[in-house]
Amino acid sequence: MKKTLIAPSILSCDFSKAGNEIADISACGADWIHIDVMDGHFVPNITFGAPVMKFFRSYSEKFFDVHLMISDPLFYINDFVKAGADGITFHVECDSDIDATIDEINKNGKMAGLSVKPKTPAEAVFPYLDKIGMVLIMTVEPGFGGQKFMGDMMPKIEAIKAECEKRGIKDMLIQVDGGINADTAALVKKAGADVLVAGSAVFGAEDRKEAIEKLRNA
Ligand code: DX5
Ligand code: ZN
Repeated sequence: MKKTLIAPSILSCDFSKAGNEIADISACGADWIHIDVMDGHFVPNITFGAPVMKFFRSYSEKFFDVHLMISDPLFYINDFVKAGADGITFHVECDSDIDATIDEINKNGKMAGLSVKPKTPAEAVFPYLDKIGMVLIMTVEPGFGGQKFMGDMMPKIEAIKAECEKRGIKDMLIQVDGGINADTAALVKKAGADVLVAGSAVFGAEDRKEAIEKLRNA
């Protein structure tokens, strides 16, 4: 069985000391660092862009898992590559050309991920499965941390897994993001998720190391 990867989302960190927060979470056993980029257009919230992210890079050697919740990801891929992204996930609902955006990420040797919002069916990513490394199933409406987990997204995980199996696509990672805590982690793992994103459940915990362990062993 594949190891479950835990990717704490820095959206819930104290941004006045973001570098130290990233170093801390890395020392506490995070596998990946999940970096939420929002443009105030694709989602009703604004975080930061590549010029800010580049300063995070020196605080951790972990895999930087960049989640772009922006309308035109293609325009910014190069900036995020230069700023130190290891994987770049963007939304199938965005305005950019999906194939061109995946190609741009792959061309730079980074892992391309494609995400679906709760109201988008899993089938929307089927045409691209051959050239991406990860599918992100949102388990909340993107935009904010601390929302309630949507359990009815689980069939989407199963649909992606079944389609990959049918087409002989191996090593596809399935990531879930939104409302993941020790309880919901068990559900998503059972459904077949490989990478668990968690913001408030990790950064809000008294003992972050323990919180990460709990998610991994749920
Ligand atoms: C939401 C972001 C998530 C968010 C998750 O749009 O994509 O990564 O930080 O936060 P929690 O784990 O608190 O739901
Ligand atoms: Zn995210």
